[in-house]
Amino acid sequence: MAEKLELINSITQALYCFYSSLMLFWALSKCFWDGKKNRIVLFLLSILANSMVGLLIALMSSFWLPDAIVYLWGPLKGWFHVLLYLPFVLAGPIYLLHIFIMARLCGKWLRVKNYSSVLFLFLMFGAINFVADYRDSGASEITSNLEHENIVSIVCTVMAFVALWLFYKLDVKPFSELAQVKVKVNWKIFSIPPILFIIIYSVLAGVVLVEYHENILPIIMLFFLSTLIIYIFIWAFYVIVKNIHETNAAVKANEKVKTLSVEVMEALAHTIDAKDEYTRGHSVRVAKYSKMLAEKLGLSEEDCENVYYMGLLHDIGKIGVPNEIINSKSKLTDEEYAVIKTHPGVGFGILDEIKSRPDLSIGAHWHHERYDGKGYPDGKSGEDIPYFARIIAVADSYDAMTSNRSYRDYLPQDVVLNELRKNEGTQFDPNIAERMIELIEEDKDYKLHE
Ligand SMILES: [Fe+2]
Repeated sequence: MAEKLELINSITQALYCFYSSLMLFWALSKCFWDGKKNRIVLFLLSILANSMVGLLIALMSSFWLPDAIVYLWGPLKGWFHVLLYLPFVLAGPIYLLHIFIMARLCGKWLRVKNYSSVLFLFLMFGAINFVADYRDSGASEITSNLEHENIVSIVCTVMAFVALWLFYKLDVKPFSELAQVKVKVNWKIFSIPPILFIIIYSVLAGVVLVEYHENILPIIMLFFLSTLIIYIFIWAFYVIVKNIHETNAAVKANEKVKTLSVEVMEALAHTIDAKDEYTRGHSVRVAKYSKMLAEKLGLSEEDCENVYYMGLLHDIGKIGVPNEIINSKSKLTDEEYAVIKTHPGVGFGILDEIKSRPDLSIGAHWHHERYDGKGYPDGKSGEDIPYFARIIAVADSYDAMTSNRSYRDYLPQDVVLNELRKNEGTQFDPNIAERMIELIEEDKDYKLHE
């Protein structure tokens, strides 16, 4: 029975080693991998960076170091009995150093923007693995029965499994958001909570150690170094948590501003659409279709978002067109049509004032240009028309055909398809029109209409 338990204990520990490497790999990929770096290298790096490996290096080197010191510096021979205590205290700093160096290396290789988030990830994995690795010595402290020792150790490993899994589930997703924000790490060396800890720890540990030990010198050394290590660990956690907290606040503030700007843009779009009783919801739909097209065209997430905003505000210039003309039931006169044609220029004038988003006016300015150069206001053709404006032009025409008018209902899907095919290369950019056709073909139940 005891041998079986021993075997299970060894297997769970080996599994845990592999599992924690895999978890670190997933966490790093989720938070910092941008798709350009090699995934195999990242996996190898996470095995190397795994704090279990670090612990092994720390333990081995801390046992060699005292011998090496005596070998390199003869006069210390007399102090050798003191140096024998070193392994117990050296393992800590070496372990921490390994975590810091590996976090730095991984961060550099992955071009991490927010260093505090990557360091916190490593420190958390390090702390959980450190506790997990002390299960055997911990178990032998609790009981001298070999069977019980193994059971305690297996239970500890299972708990470490759960702890890592919980950390991954609860914290890795928020980290992936934080990782996008560039915040300078504020390394304050003296911070109040770690200093408070040092005072309390010194008093308590000092009293206990001096009371029970006769050989004072190694004890003082042990005490001094252990205090230092724990201080560094607590300080690192404190600083990192503080930085993460600050980043979090910045992210939230940013999100609030972003939501507000989207809401303002949507409100503006509704105002424009409200002018025309037959184009209710037009701007929002054009924005939606433009974004779908941009996604189909494989644009980046940021570009897709920009196209959405441009679509929302593409007709903002209609604010300058009198309501009688917009809502005219009879055929427009040449003069009236000339007034309608001013709306791209007016829209450009309004949106060009928004300096923080210089691209926003592109859609409003050129969404009535045609691929063959017969559009307005500038008669631009082909690739001269900005790409985003060509996308919005297709989405705008699609919505015009698929929404109700005073004189007709929205057109049947096959008619819309034929219109797009007919005007490919003349009115529309053929590549973009082709993507729109794909979107229509995917829309089997014809849901994309007013
Ligand atoms: Fe327009």
